[in-house]
Amino acid sequence: MKSLLIVYHSQSGTCANLARAAWRGAKLESEVETTVQRAWDADTRQLSQADGVLLVMAENSGALSGTMKDFLDRTFYPAIARGVVVPYALLISAGNDGRGAQRQAQRILSGYPFPAASEPLIVRGAWSEEHQRASEELGQAFAAGLSMGIF
Ligand SMILES: Cc1cc2nc3c(=O)[nH]c(=O)nc-3n(C[C@H](O)[C@H](O)[C@H](O)COP(=O)(O)O)c2cc1C
Repeated sequence: MKSLLIVYHSQSGTCANLARAAWRGAKLESEVETTVQRAWDADTRQLSQADGVLLVMAENSGALSGTMKDFLDRTFYPAIARGVVVPYALLISAGNDGRGAQRQAQRILSGYPFPAASEPLIVRGAWSEEHQRASEELGQAFAAGLSMGIF
């Protein structure tokens, strides 16, 4: 049984909706156990037990949301010390951009070093059915890849 860890931070509820949709998509893959954690509560132990990690966050002031940055700051050296290498995917919510958060996350994650399991997904503007569908598809695709041993 493979495991997918979804870590999210949400101020307004938008990223929480995205994380929930990704979880619904991932649950369609019965061979993968998917868990969702708030970034505040997630730690290196959970990361080290996962076969894949999906980070769901907003772009704030051209950068990663502070709480997701805190999660990465807390786990960076402990993960390196344990030799933890986990494929990751990014799901970013933004008002009109998102590329600053993407660049920063990719740069940090390359230092762990974690390989990217997919292209980052940026969804812009208010929550929509299209965002929901894209998030579900990302969750399912990531879980399916883990199930098939692609990552
Ligand atoms: C303090 C703050 C800064 C923001 N900065 C950006 C930004 O630099 N670029 C952008 O595209 N959106 C920006 N946004 C919009 C958020 O990325 C967007 O509303 C997102 O959906 C918030 O998700 P959340 O409330 O679930 O964390 C900002 C929002 C806030 C509250």
